[in-house]
Amino acid sequence: MLTTTDAKARGLADLPPVINDSLLALITLCDADPRPDKIDVGVGVFRDGAGNTPILEVIKAAEQRLLDTQKSKSYLGSAGDKRFAQLLRPILLGEHAGDERILGVQTPGGCGALRLGFELLATVNPKARVFLGTPTWPNHPPIIRAVDLEAVEYPYYERGQAAVRFEDMLEAIRSGEPGDVTLLHGCCHNPTGADLDEEQWRRVRDVVVERGLIPLVDIAYQGFGRGLEEDAYGVHLMLESCDEVIVAQSCDKNFSVYRDRVGSLWIKSGSRETSEKAMGHVFQRAREMWSMPPDHGAAAVHIVLEDPELRERWLVELAGMRDRINAVRQRIAGADPRLAFIGRQFGMFSMLPLSKEQVLRLREDDAIYMADSGRFNVVGMGDGQIDRFIAAVVGAMDS
Ligand SMILES: Cc1ncc(COP(=O)(O)O)c(C=O)c1O
Repeated sequence: MLTTTDAKARGLADLPPVINDSLLALITLCDADPRPDKIDVGVGVFRDGAGNTPILEVIKAAEQRLLDTQKSKSYLGSAGDKRFAQLLRPILLGEHAGDERILGVQTPGGCGALRLGFELLATVNPKARVFLGTPTWPNHPPIIRAVDLEAVEYPYYERGQAAVRFEDMLEAIRSGEPGDVTLLHGCCHNPTGADLDEEQWRRVRDVVVERGLIPLVDIAYQGFGRGLEEDAYGVHLMLESCDEVIVAQSCDKNFSVYRDRVGSLWIKSGSRETSEKAMGHVFQRAREMWSMPPDHGAAAVHIVLEDPELRERWLVELAGMRDRINAVRQRIAGADPRLAFIGRQFGMFSMLPLSKEQVLRLREDDAIYMADSGRFNVVGMGDGQIDRFIAAVVGAMDS
């Protein structure tokens, strides 16, 4: 039997292997495939018609300005770039931007915002349960586990109908107790593309208010669905109706700065003083984990949003990305009635009606890479690959 001392003497060699995030494993598999016409729709980044993920022109311009004018890289502190958060405020909060009970802070991407938001919730109430619709983005459950909160999963999506299992969702969150948390995708649901419509958001809001739940809205794709304002409908509704709301936001997609890690966390409470106190805890957690967020990407976004001309050009580039997403959706939807649902969904992801075996066959026979679940990125491929993709998927559905 091991004594306590023996246990302490254990080394790194005693670690169990980690089960890799399946999406990261898929990237490795696809990279290793030598076939020149391979299609990678497993990846979670926007690609243009040529199949590239270019740096936005406005970000290039902002980076040039940064290079020319930045005088210091001295520390900024745990809050990062405060002006960045101020500039983002009206875009994310809309008519609530003037509400001084809402405070925002820069974070390392949407992931950093989620982690900090859940750290705060776990500090407030270690017994809080987190209601989580499945399927969801695969990083949600590990982040909730990392802060030792209990996740209560409920089925969010009916694949056969390509629809939200809305009544099941309501029933699940109705069982929540005051102080429990409901994690909601703000827009462009990952992985299903099936968003709540406005009526559904209002009904969710009613249950959240009735049960005294805290909504945590994860909004990583604002502007990729219907538009900046429309995509924030759920965020605005929760801010309008609830005293306590957490919002985890990402600029990584809508500014195409993925690896620069740009995001923000927003807290609303019943009073300015409480929000400030909560932010104090957030800064403390941030200090323990990464001390302060990386500056470069947020500094570039700051420049874009501060400059009226760059800001206008960003809106045009963002609309271009959104238009491509929606155009590719319509093209796939029009190819076969079984794919028509793709035209009614939003954002980069949808789930194809394929079994795991069919997905694996597409990988082997056609060099088409998507998640085992059939989740695919509608803009993971260039324009020249779409017809081959559709033909292979229709073939797989027929087989
Ligand atoms: C639903 C959802 N939330 C949050 C994120 C986090 O984005 P990032 O940390 O890259 O900003 C992602 C990224 O894929 C996502 O899909």
